[in-house]
Amino acid sequence: MVGNSEKKHRPVACLILAAGQGTRMKSVRPKVMHEVAGKPMIRHVVAACEAMGAAKIVVVIAPEGMESVRQAVLPHPCAVQDRPLGTGHAARAALAFLKGFDGDVIVLFGDTPLVRPESLQSLVRRRAETNASIVVSGFTPQDAAAYGRMITLPDGSLEKIVEFKDASPEERAVRLCNGGIMLFDGKKFAAVLDKIDNKNAKGEYYLTDTVAIARAQGLIAAVAPMQEEEIMGINTKVELAVAEAIMQKRLREKAMLAGVTMTDPGSVFLCEDTQLAADVIIGPNVVFGSGVKVGAGVEIKSFCHLEKVEIEAGATIGPFARLRPGAKIGEGAHIGNFVEIKNATVEAGAKINHLSYIGDARVGEKANVGAGTITCNYDGFTKAHTDIGAGAFIGSNTSLIAPVKIGAGAIIGAGSAISKDVPADALAVTRAKPSLIEGWAARFRANKKK
Ligand code: UD1
Ligand code: MG
Repeated sequence: MVGNSEKKHRPVACLILAAGQGTRMKSVRPKVMHEVAGKPMIRHVVAACEAMGAAKIVVVIAPEGMESVRQAVLPHPCAVQDRPLGTGHAARAALAFLKGFDGDVIVLFGDTPLVRPESLQSLVRRRAETNASIVVSGFTPQDAAAYGRMITLPDGSLEKIVEFKDASPEERAVRLCNGGIMLFDGKKFAAVLDKIDNKNAKGEYYLTDTVAIARAQGLIAAVAPMQEEEIMGINTKVELAVAEAIMQKRLREKAMLAGVTMTDPGSVFLCEDTQLAADVIIGPNVVFGSGVKVGAGVEIKSFCHLEKVEIEAGATIGPFARLRPGAKIGEGAHIGNFVEIKNATVEAGAKINHLSYIGDARVGEKANVGAGTITCNYDGFTKAHTDIGAGAFIGSNTSLIAPVKIGAGAIIGAGSAISKDVPADALAVTRAKPSLIEGWAARFRANKKK
């Protein structure tokens, strides 16, 4: 038995318009490739479409300079709009990808990284409720600025959308605006698109004209309310920073609701792909670059920077630790202050507590790496590996000149420069012979005073 709530919706295709150059970003990068929470804006939009269950996603790009967008949206295809003649024209460019598709078509913009899958779903629900052939996201901004104005009928359905430049003073006074996301009954989509012309103030093919066209054909258009935050389009670096702040707040709240403790959430920077298990504790001013996975109960103290690293349960990191790509920190390991780790595996219970650089290395289980230990992993030409066996003890201020192996349980005397392998349980020390001259300092001072 299929209940009402399980009633199957038609498949949805999403067309994401991204052919605009975004000149106001003042950048060589296409606008939609600028990142929010470590991920290009366009990928956020694609992810929202995927999460809402879209059966088909097509991104509309310009013919030039958009190879990076094409790559970023894979495996979804791109349609090319040969010239930027308006949103209606851009949607037409994607029609070839919709041959034989007769579900719902959602058209949205590539520069709205804050759109949520639930909101896209709400357009689908609204269509089912109202039997409309077009559903348009509507919102009432503080400042209606140059948004398209939504002209409604007494029954609440939509009569037409008037673009700001074409609007009369009365129409400009309307507060309900087009958020830019539109859903179309796929069976009617091509026909209404076909009727759009460019006889308007901007000389563009307005996608929004489809509403009046549909109504003239006796079809219904409805409004679905949406949060202003979600349809916020990014045009400048200032707006990019606003979107970043909103996204960070969302990510932090999601993490905290999943059991992460943040002493000062406002100073923690997350990436969209940051994975934090329950009972992780994060101090103030911690930055997560992309690709970080943190296990249960890990404490990351203040002022740490992490990127492409994996930390297993119960480890302690920082304060002031820098974990660079390829760092793998084992269960219960300690990484202390001013320690930098790159492309290295630190096994369970190992300790690197102070002022060290560990790169291209393995630090075995329960090994202890003393303050100031450096792996000399680069000879100016190639990188080499350092292997520290389980339970080894590396004395402070040791240089491990890679490639080199320290056997399990070996002890390295403080201040050594080790360039040859050390067998398990051996002691290795390299130091200049101490020389000691009794009374020398006193004689030196006495001579100077003469
Ligand atoms: C559009 C809507 C307006 C709405 C507003 C919401 C139209 C005609 N107007 O106006 O009602 O209030 O969004 O933000 O749709 N694009 C292309 N090819 C083009 C033109 C645009 O791909 O030829 C893409 C742009 O990259 C951008 C999006 O479509 O991502 C929107 O274009 P934009 O010029 O910003 O439309 P608005 O004038 O803001
Ligand atoms: Mg815009």
